[in-house]
Amino acid sequence: MHLPDELVEYNYQGLFNPIPESWTPLAELQAQNLLAPERLEVLKPTLMNVRMQVASERGMENPPPKLRPLDAAFIDLPQKLLDQQRRKGDTSELTRITTLATRLKSEVDRVVILGIGGSYVGARTVFEALCSTCHNELPAQARMGRPRIYFEGNSFDNDALQDLLELLEHTCVDPQIREERWGVVVVSKSGGTLETAAAYRVLRAELARYYGNDSKKYRKYIIPITGPTGKLRELCRADGFADDDILTIPDGVGGRYSVFSPVGLVPAALLGLDVRALLLGAASMTRRFLEEPFERNPVLQYAGVNYLMSEELGKKSRVLAVWSKKLEALGLWHDQLLSESLGKQGRGPTPLTAVNTRDLHSRGQQHQEGTRDKIINNLFVKAPKHPGIPLGMSDRNEDDLNSLSRKTYPDLNNAAFQGTNQAYLEDARPTASIMLPSLSEHTLGQLMQMLMLATVVEGRLMNVNPYGQPGVEAYKKNMNRILRSEGKA
Ligand code: PA5
Repeated sequence: MHLPDELVEYNYQGLFNPIPESWTPLAELQAQNLLAPERLEVLKPTLMNVRMQVASERGMENPPPKLRPLDAAFIDLPQKLLDQQRRKGDTSELTRITTLATRLKSEVDRVVILGIGGSYVGARTVFEALCSTCHNELPAQARMGRPRIYFEGNSFDNDALQDLLELLEHTCVDPQIREERWGVVVVSKSGGTLETAAAYRVLRAELARYYGNDSKKYRKYIIPITGPTGKLRELCRADGFADDDILTIPDGVGGRYSVFSPVGLVPAALLGLDVRALLLGAASMTRRFLEEPFERNPVLQYAGVNYLMSEELGKKSRVLAVWSKKLEALGLWHDQLLSESLGKQGRGPTPLTAVNTRDLHSRGQQHQEGTRDKIINNLFVKAPKHPGIPLGMSDRNEDDLNSLSRKTYPDLNNAAFQGTNQAYLEDARPTASIMLPSLSEHTLGQLMQMLMLATVVEGRLMNVNPYGQPGVEAYKKNMNRILRSEGKA
């Protein structure tokens, strides 16, 4: 049960072609670039069938070959974790996740999270969206026991890794002091991804150097998160980890759909965030998707109109315009979600994130006057967390802003948002908006689940499997061949 002001909503009316009273150049542009409302009406029965199909895929243990891979377990995972905690309490997966995170949090002041793709960017989204923008710079007291967070294992950038090692070397000198201790969360579902495995090898050696070579001494500073089998699990077992101290990404939950598994929940718990509220938000979006009619169903609305825009009007560039810096990483997460899920068989929309108003001063020109291949989905947070900062009066008013002295930052952002939408509308640039009442665990949970579900629905509409990412294997195969053949001659 939600209060209306907690709900994430999708406003898409601006995508429809208004019936013109007479011919004008704008009416012509609108006819070419906006949707005829009947198109959506025609699609609705198909959308309802796709919803039924996606719902039935959840229970399939042995899917037919044409549906494989099928990673639909993410859909029910949030509610399952919550239910299991209610039933099993201390022995539930969710309690294990929070217990391990709380233990690491109490031991160290810095945590390096290793992972790439779906094993990385969801955690970064949660961190950036819900923690202070200056989290790592805050003194320990202001962070209230929450460790500083770093992300590695997501590239082969030698100098970036060296910078991190140097930071740890300079700041962590005495392992007896919590403020000078650091730890690692290593995330890899397959356990074989080279970027993550290589970084773990280097950092594990550093941990051994810092805390002592015996794995008993350093393993309490590590949380491994991996699939049910694989090399990372084997390595951890060899290091003496008890099975209970290795968290599992369940079978049937694909990397980019795994943010509500230990992959995103451990970092969230480390950061002292309300993990249950994240899950409650996600679970409520699943319920809305499965139960609500189209008119109250942001998943079906988003999937339906974006599909039509891309497939029928050729708007192949999908811009997610986020109106908060804190959502930039969500844009990265969304880029991956869309690219790996739908970029197949020579098809799929191209995602692109703009952070406004910053990018109005870079991409804005192109979005206003460039190629008409885009749909713009705004992502707007209505209420900031903190009271609005006013501009205030200035004695001499050299900057001529005194007339705006009572305006606050949210007023400025709102005006820019409305002004931009109006400018796009006046040139028939298709624009819609996902509206978040505020940015909290609960709304972020809804939003991420909404985008994941909508991507699956869109994949099914396109007849493209939204799970799996076979194209990613090509570079890995070549890279491994190159690395392993070097030096053989
Ligand atoms: O969505 C996916 O499955 C991928 O992006 C993976 O998350 C990414 O390749 C990392 O894989 P792994 O967790 O196995 O190291």
